[in-house]
Parts: sequence; C-alpha cells; structure tokens
Amino acid sequence: MKTIAVVGATGAMGRSIVRALVDHPSQEFQVRALTRNPSGKRAKELEAYSDKITAVQADTNDQKSLEEAFRGVHGVFCNTDYWNAGSRVQEIVQSINVATACLNVSVEHLVYSSLEYVSAITKSSLSLPYFDSKAEASEYILAMLPKATILISAPYFENFLGYALPEKRQRSDGDFEFVFKDPMADKPYTMVALDDIGQFAAYAFAEFDSVRGKKLYVASDSPTMMEVADTFSRVTGLSAVYEPMTLEEFRETHKGTVNDIQDSPDGEFVGNMFEFIRDYGIDRDYDFIKSINPKVMDFEAWLRHTEWKGEPVAVQNYFVAKTTK
Ligand SMILES: NC(=O)c1ccc[n+]([C@@H]2O[C@H](COP(=O)([O-])OP(=O)(O)OC[C@H]3O[C@@H](n4cnc5c(N)ncnc54)[C@H](OP(=O)(O)O)[C@@H]3O)[C@@H](O)[C@H]2O)c1
Repeated sequence: MKTIAVVGATGAMGRSIVRALVDHPSQEFQVRALTRNPSGKRAKELEAYSDKITAVQADTNDQKSLEEAFRGVHGVFCNTDYWNAGSRVQEIVQSINVATACLNVSVEHLVYSSLEYVSAITKSSLSLPYFDSKAEASEYILAMLPKATILISAPYFENFLGYALPEKRQRSDGDFEFVFKDPMADKPYTMVALDDIGQFAAYAFAEFDSVRGKKLYVASDSPTMMEVADTFSRVTGLSAVYEPMTLEEFRETHKGTVNDIQDSPDGEFVGNMFEFIRDYGIDRDYDFIKSINPKVMDFEAWLRHTEWKGEPVAVQNYFVAKTTK
C-alpha cells in the first residue's frame, strides 16, 4: 500500500482526490486526509467512505504539523485554499510550507493543484490573485522539488451548483425556466468535473515516472454557455436559456457573494476571472487529456452522472449559494 497525504482533503476538490485514490483499480493507495479538524463532519464522512482513509490533523500555516502528517508517506497531493489563506502572498507561503515539509521528510512526489498564470499571460493587464498565487507557487515548488507534478485545472462544473447557480424564473406563460447568466458571451468556457480532477490526480500518482517534473494541463470540456443551457435543457427536460451579461453587470450582481477577504473585495476578481477566460481563454489539448483519463466527462456526461437539475448544492465552503427563486 502506498500512502498519499491529501492537503485540502475535506474540500470539494480534495474529496474527489481521496475517493479516486482509494477506488483506483490498482488498489495500491491509502490516504491520510489532512484537515484542521479530524473530528469534523467532512472528515468523519471521509473515514466512513473507506477504511483506507484516516483523517489527520495539520494546518498549512504550521509547517511542523505538515511534517508530522507527511512522515512515511509515498506522496502528497496539495490543494491550498486561497479563500482561507486570505491573500495571494499567504497562499504562496502555505504552498511553500507544504513543499518544505515534503523536503524535510523526504517526500519526492508532490502533486500540486494549480491554475493558469494570469499575470504572465495577460502581461499584468489583469489581476487574478487566486490563479497567480498557485502559478507562482508552482515555480518555487518545481525549483525545490524537481520531481513534483503540477496539475493545472480550471473552474469546476460544480460552480453551477453554487455561485453560478442558474436563476429559476417564471415565464409569461406561467412555466419556469432556468436562466444561466455570466459574461462569457459566445466564447468557450473551459471547466472541469470534480470527479475528473480525482482521476487526473490518481493518474499522476500511479504513473509517477511519466509525470514527474511536469505540468499537466487538464479540464473536462470547453462548451459555450449557449451549449451549456441547451445541453441542460436536453438532458433534464427543463427549459433553460443563456443570457450574457456585461462584466460590469456581473461585478455589480456578485458584490457580497464572495467572502470579504483582503485580495478580493466584493467579488471583483471573480469578474476578472471571467474577463480572463472570455478574452484569453483556457486552452486544453483534449487528445492528451483523453489519453490520461479516457472517461473524462464532457458537460453532458457530467449532467447525466450527477443528475443535477438546477438545484443549489453546498459544494465549497467559500461561496454563498444564491437561493433559487
Ligand atoms: N471553485 C473552482 O472552480 C476552483 C477550481 C480550481 C481550483 N480551485 C481552488 O480550490 C481552492 C479551494 O478548495 P475547494 O474548492 O476544495 O474548497 P472547499 O470545499 O472550501 O475546501 C477548502 C479545503 O481547504 C482546507 N483548508 C483551508 N485552510 C486550511 C489550512 N490553513 N490548513 C489546512 N487545510 C486548510 C479545508 O480543510 P479543513 O477545513 O478541514 O481544515 C478544506 O479541505 C481554492 O484555492 C480555489 O482557488 C477552485
């Protein structure tokens, strides 16, 4: 059995990583699920899922606790939480704490969850601290641990269950329709299914020799929002439309939907995220992605898999879900 320590295990992304590892066909992995509170609900749910999962206390602000949690493990998966760190700099500090702990207890294989380097791609014309923090930390990590793997993902499909929930609106004929609204207009919106991130991470641990020292650019699908609404309608049988918003309208309506933290007043940077994805795009090679995860889910497959029908679901901790009208 190879033990993998998962930083952020109780979170939306971490839970899918943990499940994919213990369910991997090789049956070679067991998991230390790191959490600040091993007796919390999410930690207990994970332990109930499989006897190959043990919740272990650690805090990314406390490097010693990470060293204790990493002692003797084969590998570490790390998804830091920008919203809890509260700033770009602090998320980088937390990431370096994880890499330093790996170095100090001789863990060679760290799989670090990252995102696009927005400042570099846009030549600093857009600020997106929760992407840049992870991209900058990735460079430090590869310098410290040359065999680390950087898993560069994308916004989750599951954001539709929370901050991007479609509005349920009554039409003039009395029927209801779901209204998807954002500033993507007709541009492809690259996203990832949480269950697919789990598969990509499990692949990275199972195929260490082919991924060490590499950046893996992953995602599940890049539909337009019109295709999202049409697919939702076709799969669920419920009416749905897409209504594009301007970036200004989006920023205004999303005031207060994101925790008020130092770097992200009033959700301003969620607006910047859409500006980045709309105007620069998140480019992915789906032939490569299918080669490492043949069962990758496009939006239609994700809808069928999750059976989501437009209702709000608490997936992440940091966004306040809008209520369905
Ligand atoms: N939403 C998206 O579309 C998307 C896409 C890609 C990446 N991300 C990134 O994912 C991160 C958030 O993860 P998530 O989506 O899984 O959110 P989440 O469901 O809110 O989970 C946050 C996780 O971080 C852990 N955590 C927070 N502070 C910690 C600390 N100081 N020490 C140890 N663990 C800590 C929490 O563990 P405990 O509370 O149990 O300690 C929990 O497991 C963000 O950085 C975000 O940028 C999000």
